[in-house]
Amino acid sequence: MRLDKFLGACGLGTRKQIKEFIKNGMVSIDGEIAKKPEISIDPAVNSILFSGESLTDDYKEFRYYLLYKPQGVVSATRDNHDTTVLDLIDTGFDKNLAPVGRLDKDAEGLLIITNDGKLSHRLLSPKKHVEKEYEVHTKKPVSENDIKRLEEGVDIGDEEPTLPARAFVKDEILHLIIHEGRFHQVKRMLEAVDNEVVFLKRIRMGNLCLDPSLEPGEYRELTDEELDLLK
Ligand code: URA
Repeated sequence: MRLDKFLGACGLGTRKQIKEFIKNGMVSIDGEIAKKPEISIDPAVNSILFSGESLTDDYKEFRYYLLYKPQGVVSATRDNHDTTVLDLIDTGFDKNLAPVGRLDKDAEGLLIITNDGKLSHRLLSPKKHVEKEYEVHTKKPVSENDIKRLEEGVDIGDEEPTLPARAFVKDEILHLIIHEGRFHQVKRMLEAVDNEVVFLKRIRMGNLCLDPSLEPGEYRELTDEELDLLK
């Protein structure tokens, strides 16, 4: 792999920072100062040092990020018009990173970004029933009867009604917990009870909650404990 990709995968910083580190002679390969970011290395064979310290233990094949997706950004890897969630992740190591599922452009909240395709697949598999919790602001108040209908399952125009869900109102905000991931599901569920979503925020996926210290657009790596919770 390329040296700069390897250094990114060790969590050393952004592509720009990594370029600077190499330019400043801070990286060596088998005892020789590295000169070019694109040089090819093999982490299993070459000894790579940063500021004299071995990077062997820092290299991780898989990266997991918790992003607070802001509104106005699309949950795609590339887009010709809009900013994508990957444009927000500047890690120097972007190969195969992808969002786990989608949030609509006008929705915000928790989005996991990873290059671990297997984990992504598991979290999205309908058979695994991973819970997704949303805070939903609605145009009209939500009645007890609406809650009951949302929980039992509603006809959103698909072949099957939605699966049983949990719904409750806390501090005047509807919380909807579903374990499917149909297209625009929450919006369509609220339409089915003659209402409309005006603001949508995902606050939890499985056991992983949105970090309240993150601002929209910010991200951080998942901790080992959080990763265990997801797995
Ligand atoms: N349901 C929606 O309608 N939109 C989302 O982004 C996620 C769930």
